[in-house]
Amino acid sequence: MNKPSQLRVGLIGCGSIAADHVRGYLALAAGSGRLVAVADADPVRRADVSKLAGGVREYGDYTELLADSEIDAVDICLPHHLHRDAILAAAASGKHILAEKPLCLTAEEADEIGNAVTAAGVTLMCAHNQLFMPTVRRARELVDEGFCGDVHTVRTSDSFFVDFTPETMGWRANRLKSGGGELIDTGYHPAYLLLHLAGSEPTAVTAILSRYRLGFLDGEDSAQVSVRFGNGALGTLETSWAHDPAGTEKFALVGAEGALWGDGTTLWTRRRGQETHVEEFEPVDTFAAEIDHFVDSVRTGTRPVETHVEGTRVLEVILGAYRSSAEGRTVDLDELHPAGLGAGKGVDS
Ligand SMILES: NC(=O)c1ccc[n+]([C@@H]2O[C@H](COP(=O)([O-])OP(=O)(O)OC[C@H]3O[C@@H](n4cnc5c(N)ncnc54)[C@H](O)[C@@H]3O)[C@@H](O)[C@H]2O)c1
Repeated sequence: MNKPSQLRVGLIGCGSIAADHVRGYLALAAGSGRLVAVADADPVRRADVSKLAGGVREYGDYTELLADSEIDAVDICLPHHLHRDAILAAAASGKHILAEKPLCLTAEEADEIGNAVTAAGVTLMCAHNQLFMPTVRRARELVDEGFCGDVHTVRTSDSFFVDFTPETMGWRANRLKSGGGELIDTGYHPAYLLLHLAGSEPTAVTAILSRYRLGFLDGEDSAQVSVRFGNGALGTLETSWAHDPAGTEKFALVGAEGALWGDGTTLWTRRRGQETHVEEFEPVDTFAAEIDHFVDSVRTGTRPVETHVEGTRVLEVILGAYRSSAEGRTVDLDELHPAGLGAGKGVDS
């Protein structure tokens, strides 16, 4: 696959998250990349986002955007049930892909995606924007350097109070379109953060889910998930649209020799028996950082921090959590791989 000197990107889906992505393209260094087109079935939404981007080409049908030879890459911001088809079509058109979470809805779809992007030789980066929080980057560096020793436990959280109504909730209220409820939506963030910090393959999942407030939702509005990792570490994530636990940290990790915990801008670290050290960071626009990383990865032909491989692992944890909650048992993640397909085991370059 070619490495374009300036990446020309088309944005597919001009809904609530599109403005955050546009801000990222507008912040790119001159000459590195730019947004050149948008697609959305809704003419008002695509016109608004085009205007925000400074006036770019508009398509009502994203397959027309994919046929545009002056586009090198696409940024997919569609409702969850449309991710698989859009990713497969983009790969078939030879476009590089930045894909909003979740990667797709099932292990079979993830397997198809892995095969398609590998065959097409395109880059797929999962838009896991919270990995670009400066505290998370530093925490991962410290874990890699062995600051905490062997990792024992990791904890992540992402909870807030939403005032959605059945009218404003749209496709998110429908299990067939969203893939579940809060866990596969906002809960995807603490799930990828958990896996990223643990630095090991998840092997088994136990979950309990609840619906406290949003009665019109097919799925849960709150979830607690425990994950066992191949290196022996245990992970826990808590996520909710029903409460706002102000003051809780985003992540915490305890190892044999030390611990660290943090939010978006402050990281606390402590070696066993020593004083706690505090590092403060300037806030980062995580969407702009993610888009900059995507553009740089494609232009230099380097692997982005998380591809469909990590995206599939995160999806497996979410799907395992849903199965665990439904069946009241711990789910071995190997159960999720359809026989003969090797779902979730996709390789990339
Ligand atoms: N990273 C984050 O923090 C974050 C936050 C919000 C949303 N998201 C993700 O972004 C994605 C989009 O979410 P959203 O909140 O923007 O949704 P949304 O409902 O606001 O927007 C979806 C857009 O897709 C368009 N659309 C639907 N079907 C289409 C089709 N067939 N062809 C073209 N356009 C079509 C709709 O008209 C709408 O404008 C989801 O995957 C979501 O999980 C991520």
